[in-house]
Amino acid sequence: KVLRLGMMPADGIGREVLPCAQRVLQNTPGAPKFEFVHLDAGFEHFQKTGSALPEETVKALKNDCHGAMFGSVSSPSHKVDGYSSPIVKLRKELDLYANIRPVVGVRGTKDDEKFVDSVIIRENTECLYIKSETSESGPDGQVARAIRQITEKASTRIGKKAFEVALARQELRRTTQPNYTPTVTICHKSNVLSVTDGLFRTSVRGVYEKDAKDNGGAGRYEGIKLNEQLVDSMVYRLFREPEVFDVVVAPNLYGDIVSDAAAALVGSLGLVPSVNAGDNFFMGEPVHGSAPDIAGQGKANPIASIRSAALMLEYMGYTDPALKIYTAVDAVIREGKYLTPDLGGSATTTECEEAILKKITA
Ligand code: NAI
Ligand code: MG
Repeated sequence: KVLRLGMMPADGIGREVLPCAQRVLQNTPGAPKFEFVHLDAGFEHFQKTGSALPEETVKALKNDCHGAMFGSVSSPSHKVDGYSSPIVKLRKELDLYANIRPVVGVRGTKDDEKFVDSVIIRENTECLYIKSETSESGPDGQVARAIRQITEKASTRIGKKAFEVALARQELRRTTQPNYTPTVTICHKSNVLSVTDGLFRTSVRGVYEKDAKDNGGAGRYEGIKLNEQLVDSMVYRLFREPEVFDVVVAPNLYGDIVSDAAAALVGSLGLVPSVNAGDNFFMGEPVHGSAPDIAGQGKANPIASIRSAALMLEYMGYTDPALKIYTAVDAVIREGKYLTPDLGGSATTTECEEAILKKITA
C-alpha cells in the first residue's frame, strides 16, 4: 500500500524543516511507501492569492490523502481582512478533534533530574474556545462574558482517544518496556466548576467504565490505570515531579496551558511535536511557529518536525518505523555533536537532519 501524504510547509521555517521530515519518512526502514502531495497553505499564500487555505488543498486532503504534515504558519498579530488561520480551518474541515502532544526528555542528558515522558491530549473543538463572547455596560461598568461549552459527545470522544493513545504507547514499548502500565490522568477543576468540568470528568470516566461493564471487567482498557488531577495542582506537580504523568486528557483551555508548561520542561520549542487527530486522519505539526527571527538562515531545529512525522506514523499504526525515528533522534540529542543553536550547538538544519538519517539507516 502506498500512503499519500499532503505536505503543507506553509510559512517561514516550516519550509526548511518540513523537507527534513519528508526525507526521514522516505528513508526509514520498515516505513510504508509514500507519495507526497505538495499543497499550498499559509499567510504568504494568502498575501499572494487572498486565500490561506485554498479549496484545492482541502479537497486533496479529503479525497486523495491518508494523512498530512503541516510546517508552520505566520499569523499577523493585528486583524487582517479576509484572513483566518489555515490550521484552525483544517482542524474543522477534517474533524481533527484531538491535539496530541508528547513531551519527552532524553535519558542521559541534563533532563534526567526531572524526567518527563508524557503525552497531553487536548480537546480541540469546544470549551472557552468556541469564542462566544459578549460585552455590555451595566451598573458595574462594562461586563464581558464568555460561554464555556462542554458536551458529552466531545468529552466522550476525546476520552476514547486518550485510552486509545494509552494502548498505542503500550504497543510502542512492548519490547523496550514490557512492564509498562499506561496511566490516563483526567485534568479538570470540577471541585469549582462542577457542571462543566463535572461533565468532562464523568464523560471520560464513562468511557472507561462502560468498556469494563460491557466486557465483564475484561475490556480493551483493562490494562490502563485511571487517575485525575485538578488543573492547578497539575501544573505544580508537572514542574516538581513530572515523572508521575503519563497520558493526560484535558478540555481545550487547560490542555493549551498544561501542554505549553510541559514543553518548557524539555528545553526548546524546536523539539516538541504534535499531531492533530480525528478518527481516521492524522496531521503531524511541530508545536513551534514560523520563527521569523531565524527563518532563511538554515539554523532551524528540524527535530520537532521529524518527531511529528514519527508521531503521525505511530498513530497510523506503523509503530516500528516510528520507534526507529524516535530512537535516532534521542541518540543525536544525547551525543550532542549535531545540535542546532537553540540547543546550544552550531549545526545547521541539514547537518542535524543528516545525523539523524545516518542513525536511522545505520
Ligand atoms: P515561534 O514558535 O515562531 O518562535 C519562538 C522562538 O522560538 C523564536 O525565538 C524562534 O526562533 C524559536 N524557535 C521556534 N521554533 C524553532 C526551531 N524549530 N528551531 C529553532 N528555534 C526555534 O513563535 P513566535 O515568535 O511567537 O511566532 C512567530 C510566528 O509564528 C507568528 O506569526 C505566530 O502567529 C506564528 N505561530 C504559529 C504557530 C503554528 O503554526 N502552529 C504556533 C505559534 C506561533
Ligand atoms: Mg498554546
